[in-house]
Amino acid sequence: MSEQVHPERASSTLEFDPHDPSITASNLHEIYDDLRSGCPVSRGSKYGGYWLLTRYDDVRAAALDADTFSSAHGVYLPAVSEERFPLLEMDDPEHRAYRKVLASRFNNMVAKRWEPRIREIVNELVDSFVDRGEADLVADFAEPLPLTVIGEVFGLSPENRAQVRKDAFDFLACASGSPDAAEALERMLSRWERLAAERREEPADDLLTSLTQANFGEWDGSDRLIARLMFTLSFGGHDTTILVLGSMLLHLARNPEQRRQLIDDPSLIPAAVEELLRLYAPLHNFRRDATRDTTVGGREIQAGDPVLLGWGAANRDPEKFPDPAKADFTRPNARDHLTFGAGTHACIGQFIARVELVTALDVVLARLGEYELAGEPTVTGLTGGGHHHGVEHLPVRFTAGPR
Ligand code: HEM
Repeated sequence: MSEQVHPERASSTLEFDPHDPSITASNLHEIYDDLRSGCPVSRGSKYGGYWLLTRYDDVRAAALDADTFSSAHGVYLPAVSEERFPLLEMDDPEHRAYRKVLASRFNNMVAKRWEPRIREIVNELVDSFVDRGEADLVADFAEPLPLTVIGEVFGLSPENRAQVRKDAFDFLACASGSPDAAEALERMLSRWERLAAERREEPADDLLTSLTQANFGEWDGSDRLIARLMFTLSFGGHDTTILVLGSMLLHLARNPEQRRQLIDDPSLIPAAVEELLRLYAPLHNFRRDATRDTTVGGREIQAGDPVLLGWGAANRDPEKFPDPAKADFTRPNARDHLTFGAGTHACIGQFIARVELVTALDVVLARLGEYELAGEPTVTGLTGGGHHHGVEHLPVRFTAGPR
């Protein structure tokens, strides 16, 4: 897969525990840099033992080789639930059957058609706080934006949208090992299951109804699996976008010269979004399980070993992205980042996410101009099952005005 590492490096004892509370926003990338240069394929001893890949080429190659690196045992370490979350935690051909059912709703063309409505939503959100001269750009903006968008794209009622956010917190607690979280997970899955049964009785014009009517071929398309699919889509469809949009807005607050560049030339925004996606991946790793003995970077991985694909570490590999910690909006290969994964499981929502992020920056920069920090932002280490990273609070002040 990648060239052999020096034996001394390969035997390094560097160990990474994604749940280690001493990992913070400020030391996270130093830790990855040490691992990547000292022990790019490292062994962790907890949770029954696992590997972490930190080099771009290794992470990408593993993501592309789904026959050797299976998702079917779960993408969390340790597993969050004994049942699988469809798509994310399935292998082909079952995974492909599910993905096919969703393909017509989640593609670039459909995402582009949503752009005008997303622009309206973004403007309405800015309207809601612009006269105050201050805001928390996460609570007032980054959080409601993807929730409103998926609410409309999925056809969720307002009460279901609020519930989706609550579900996300329950799930994150569950992924972090909170004791009563399994109950919360069960509660929310039963709710989706009930809704799916209702749609079978009384079809509506929404995503859930179309899933109850879909043909999953020889694979199980029961309400239980549809419930878990709706959860995967609704959780994946908002939490990641909140975290990364917060990171982007914080980056621009801290780098006013780059923000000026975008205000002066908004045509740079799509390229800036790719570069900021590379720098601030909201999901830092996902698990696979080796289906056979294999070798990565000189380390022997045995069949059955869990392997974490380090998207966040790979995105800052200097071999792939020179001067990786620098935001360079003209970086020619920024779009090669692994923030949306790669291969058969590459993010199905990436097109809609990109439309949201580009539109959000375009409107915020046009309407809030040179906003500045009005307090300490909260930036996470690794939370939510040891792989979420981003901004949770972003207090700013501004003098609103046109570009
Ligand atoms: C910036 C926002 C987003 C990021 C960073 C992100 C990240 C990812 C990543 C890394 C994967 C690959 C998982 C793997 O290889 O195991 C993935 C898959 C997925 N994402 Fe996203 N995602 C985002 C937005 C969305 C949105 C908006 C939706 C839905 C509307 C969505 C739904 C999904 C689903 C269903 C999968 C599973 C795909 C499969 O296994 O075939 N995501 N996402």
